[in-house]
Amino acid sequence: MSTQKSSFNHNQDVVHKPSKTFSSKARISSMAAYKKLYKQSIEQPEKFWAREAEELVWQKPWSKVLDWKAPNAKWFEGGKINVCENCVDRHAVGPRKNKAAIIWEGEPGDKRVITYGQLQKDVCRFANVLQKNGVKAKDRVLIYMPMVPEAAVAMLACARIGAVHNVVFGGFAAEAIVDRLQDSGASIIITADGGWRRGKVVALKPVVDEALARYDQVSRVIVLKRCGNEIAMDAARDAWWHDEVATVPSKHVAKGFDSEHPLFVLYTSGSTGKPKGILHTSGGYLTGTYSTCKYIFDMRDDDVYWCTADVGWITGHSYIVYGPLANGATQVMYEGAPNAPDFGRFWKMVEEYGVTIFYTAPTAIRAFIKAGDQFPNAYDLSSLRLLGSVGEPINPEAWNWYHQKIGGGRCPIVDTWWQTETGAILISPLPGATPCKPGTATLPFFGVDAVILDDAGKKCKAGQDGRLVIRKPWPSMIRSIYGDKERYKSTYWSDYPGFYTAGDGARRDKDGNFWIIGRLDDVLNVSGHRLGTAEIESALVSHPAVAEAAVIGRPDEMKGQAVAAFVTLKAGFEESEALCAELRNHVGKVIGAIAKPDDLYFAPGLPKTRSGKIMRRLLKELVCTGKVTGNVTTLEDPSIIENLQRKIAPHPAP
Ligand code: WT7
Repeated sequence: MSTQKSSFNHNQDVVHKPSKTFSSKARISSMAAYKKLYKQSIEQPEKFWAREAEELVWQKPWSKVLDWKAPNAKWFEGGKINVCENCVDRHAVGPRKNKAAIIWEGEPGDKRVITYGQLQKDVCRFANVLQKNGVKAKDRVLIYMPMVPEAAVAMLACARIGAVHNVVFGGFAAEAIVDRLQDSGASIIITADGGWRRGKVVALKPVVDEALARYDQVSRVIVLKRCGNEIAMDAARDAWWHDEVATVPSKHVAKGFDSEHPLFVLYTSGSTGKPKGILHTSGGYLTGTYSTCKYIFDMRDDDVYWCTADVGWITGHSYIVYGPLANGATQVMYEGAPNAPDFGRFWKMVEEYGVTIFYTAPTAIRAFIKAGDQFPNAYDLSSLRLLGSVGEPINPEAWNWYHQKIGGGRCPIVDTWWQTETGAILISPLPGATPCKPGTATLPFFGVDAVILDDAGKKCKAGQDGRLVIRKPWPSMIRSIYGDKERYKSTYWSDYPGFYTAGDGARRDKDGNFWIIGRLDDVLNVSGHRLGTAEIESALVSHPAVAEAAVIGRPDEMKGQAVAAFVTLKAGFEESEALCAELRNHVGKVIGAIAKPDDLYFAPGLPKTRSGKIMRRLLKELVCTGKVTGNVTTLEDPSIIENLQRKIAPHPAP
């Protein structure tokens, strides 16, 4: 199997055109239609986005579509909107009242169907609970939950009262919670006793307790009883979800907030320091997620949509909660692991619920390929009509397997490129129009002015590598790094002033398709999730035995990238297998299991320049090829590389 970047052949001629049957029913049914609307949307983006925004419910119309003083955008200024009303109430009062909004399955097999009518009651009750507990507009609410409908209910209830949610992925450790509380200043936490994962209870409330032992500004913790695992409850601070909702009415008036009212903060890794809080706002974000869902997933009222992401990531925010619900969709939500009890779980659920649109990540597809075809072969997948991919470049082998084995050769695949910062998909095929080549996210969405620039700011020619840049603002774009406008400006808008730099390398082929090569900064993409090398290094150095650490990514067949760490011990500590295991676990404890180094090498010294900068590039070459061929004359001590070379078995691109 080839991986993402290294072995993609972007000149390959394999082109999959959408079938006539698919195209004839699609909103955008030909390349001519795409090109025409794209051209209009780039010439007059405000006109395009205003038309999309008009499909939402506004309590007060906007007076100006866009106010743009780079890097600050205000979309739909003067407009007042309630995001929750758009996702819930407007469906609950019409013909979708008894339509399933969420078809949920717990890992042990328990099932619930929540209609839009019921969702409205649940959300209203929880909005009342939040208000009863003193939560006001703009207050931050930290959500640390398993994949249960209440996670979506909590997010929507925040949106309803104008509170700013910060969802923290349930796999993150206590320290990640402390960091986020400190940065966001949240004073209330919504959590659960635990969640089910691979047949076991993953306890959540105890992690919150551990975090709150180190941070004392949280006055309330609301706890959903999911697994019944034993947990401690602090009578003064903690309350059960079921007790709280029992005392409040199921009606709540959704008042409108300014279009630029903050909706949520979601933390993501960068190349330096702790994760940064990506701030999204209301009207523009909802317009972007609504519109991309509608065109890219070509969502219909009779679709059964399933996105396998976790609500702790941006994909869960935009394509489980806000986008699909704004479209009034029926969706499947699943609590647990893809291999619980075996790798047939997803396909069993596709058959059972008649899933028509399925959105997952390449890393999951590779795990399915490895598990064997017997799993998908055992189920009827004929309900599927459209497949999606997100998180990293999808290697052609995974694309082809997905297309044949899951899609039966009949479903278009939308390979969607976007980021936590972009809020919504920016580059993707339109399933009824765009000819797809495995491995490329193809063409920009309407209103998205994407280009590839060289270091001097010149547009790259076909086939030439450069940086992916967006030249025009779009409604669902990041508004700031929470509490740090300067960092927002310098991180995203300084390489080419006035333009947004994504941090990805890319090239275009002769047909204009965008091929994403991968991150240009010190950010790894492990199983579709972003991890900063600096973050893992700082976790390692926080262990008493570690003097210094350097982390790099190496190609991995399953995860896309795996984490390799080089560690220099403090005097008095001995290299041992036990210490190696301890350090790996330490990273798991500080950040979360996804950040645990796959390889950990003890290094008496790290390769550095004379000015003291660690040369991660050399370590990467060493891990990938077993040797260093590049220029090492700038190294302070070249013998360090020779010594390391003896220790390392190469991990070539699979
Ligand atoms: C980074 C963003 C977008 C939700 C999940 C990840 C990589 C994402 C693709 C794709 C190639 C992709 C990029 C991007 N990426 N989708 N279809 N093809 N690369 O969100 O954690 O903010 O990571 O993921 O490198 O910059 P994120």
